[in-house]
Parts: sequence; structure tokens; C-alpha cells
Amino acid sequence: MTGKDQPPKTVTGELGASWTRYWAGGHGASFGAGGEDFDSAPFWLEFLATLADGASVLDLATGGGHVVRLALEAAAKTDRAYEIHGVDLADIGALRRAFGPSGRSTLRLTGRCDLARLPFDDAAFNAVTSQFGIEYADTGAAAREAVRVLKPGGSGLFLLHHAGSAITRAAGERLRAHRVVLPDDSAFRHGERVFTILSSGAPRLAAMTEVTKFQSAVQAALGRLSPDARLSNTAEVVYFLADVARAPDRYDPRDALRRLLAAEEEVRHWMLRQQALIDAALDTPGVQALAQALEAAGAQVRAPEPFRDASGTLLAWTLGFRRGG
Ligand SMILES: C[S@@+](CC[C@H](N)C(=O)[O-])C[C@H]1O[C@@H](n2cnc3c(N)ncnc32)[C@H](O)[C@@H]1O
Repeated sequence: MTGKDQPPKTVTGELGASWTRYWAGGHGASFGAGGEDFDSAPFWLEFLATLADGASVLDLATGGGHVVRLALEAAAKTDRAYEIHGVDLADIGALRRAFGPSGRSTLRLTGRCDLARLPFDDAAFNAVTSQFGIEYADTGAAAREAVRVLKPGGSGLFLLHHAGSAITRAAGERLRAHRVVLPDDSAFRHGERVFTILSSGAPRLAAMTEVTKFQSAVQAALGRLSPDARLSNTAEVVYFLADVARAPDRYDPRDALRRLLAAEEEVRHWMLRQQALIDAALDTPGVQALAQALEAAGAQVRAPEPFRDASGTLLAWTLGFRRGG
């Protein structure tokens, strides 16, 4: 995404539903599925330790609550109490139970909340954070909102997807590799037809042509699989299809149909999220545009910096700011 001519990033209901499904599955964070994982805890703990006892913190696009969990930890370690609030477009309210007691701190999670329209008063928070979140939203509007809800003198810190990072690159490679193995939905289509016919009580013979098509589509996908770590997600799906296609008679047809549809849906949502990451990632003009939007909203902004791990691998941008006042 470049800073120039940014199209508005609208989040379709489908993408919101996709994230809701992902977080409901118990995932703690959303990146790193391809070996490019890293521990962002030290980065956040250093920032959170600067907050005073009683500080209020808003984590934007909190997802599974990675940063709010760290805020709770930071408060408990330093015997401080924070008022922590996480918001996300996805329906995350029910995740609160997974956090258990929050000690002297308070934790609230609000779902179905677009960062472009935060449901908070002006100057409500001492700190605003976002880890791989705000760049998914309409960044201009979200930046204005992030500054609006900060108290004068309050601070903000973002960790943002970088268009050239190992994380973004891996998402692109995973998607491309997946599309080579499963370039279309024919394996799913034929499988679903097989089990639709068998569920109708028709004799097995009636499904024979579809069984053959199903098996050859799966065979072709198996032939395109390579021992590539980026394909682990894809391999799981193809092995599942191969198992079902090998002898469809072994399965209850209704159950097999339900599982096939669920697997197809899972793949579709996974692809949507990978693509959303790639679309959200910011190049240099993109991160500068975000910095300018924060500045225009009244923040003093530090120059965005590339964030690398100890071995020098590029992982993200960091962007820190303070609301003037
Ligand atoms: C990559 S995940 C990051 C979640 C979490 N911060 C983490 O680091 O694990 C991106 C999150 O942004 C949320 N999101 C995307 N667009 C949004 C918007 N316009 N408003 C609020 N949340 C949004 C998604 O629902 C998703 O949970």
C-alpha cells in the first residue's frame, strides 16, 4: 500500500466474520504461522512500563488480545493498576472470559468496533497501542480517532506491518504456493457433489462419475504438493481431501459433506486474512502518510522506524507519538 492515492480500506462483513472466527478459535496472535514468528513482548513491556499507576490504555484492533494481555502482565509485575480496553472490528467480547481475573487492573474488550469511529469521549486514555491493527483500517480516519481519544500528553505506539517484512513476504509466498497446489475449487466441488448424491440415498453407482473426478482432482493436487514449509496449511487440507476421496463409502455422507464444506470455508477465510495482511502492509510512503495523519490530528510524531529482530530480519515498522497539549 502506498501513501499516494490510498483507496479507502473498507472491511467487508466477510473479513470481519473471518477474524471473529479466527479469534474464537483460540489464537493468541495472528502472524508467524510460517516460521517468521517473533516475540513482541519486550517491545511492548518497555512501553507499558512507562505508564503510571492508574493509567488507561486503549489497544486498537486487539484481536486475541496479545497486547492487552501484556498490559495486564506489566501492571501485575510492577504492582500498578491499569484500565485496559481492547477494541476490534471482530466480535471479540466473549474472549474476555479467557483472560481470567485481572488483579487490580480492569480489562474490557469491545467487538464490532471500527477504528474509524471509536465509541469513546475525547481525551479518554493515557495511552493508545496497536500491534498489526490500525493499518487494516481506514488509516486516515483511524489516526484522527487515535489522537482524539488520547489525553493531552498521552502517548501512542504502533507496531505496523511493513510491506517488505519477512511476515508480509511469507504471507505472499504462502498464498502463491497454495494457489499452485489448489488453483481452483474443483476438488471441493467434486467432493461435495459426491456426498450430495450419496446423501440423497441414490445408489453408489450414481456417484461414480463424480467420485472419479473427485479422486483425479485430489490426485493432481497431491502431485503439486512439495515438501515446502510454506505449504503446511495447504498440505493439511490436501491430505484431508485425499483421505475422504480414497474411499468415500467409508463415511457417513452427510457428515462428510459437512466436513468438506467446513474445510473449504476454512481455506477461504485463511486466504482472505493472508490477502488482508498483504493489502494492509505499509511501504515507506504509506507509513509516512499515517505519521502525517497523526500529526495533522495534533500529535507529535517520531519518525517511523523499521523494526528488526536480533539477526537483522525486518519484521515491522514502529511509530511512536504523543498528543500535544
Ligand atoms: C492481524 S490482526 C491483529 C490482532 C492483534 N492486534 C495481534 O497483534 O494479534 C488484525 C486485526 O485488525 C482487526 N481490524 C481490521 N480492520 C479493522 C477496523 N476497521 N476496525 C477495527 N479492527 C479492525 C481485525 O478484526 C483483526 O483482529
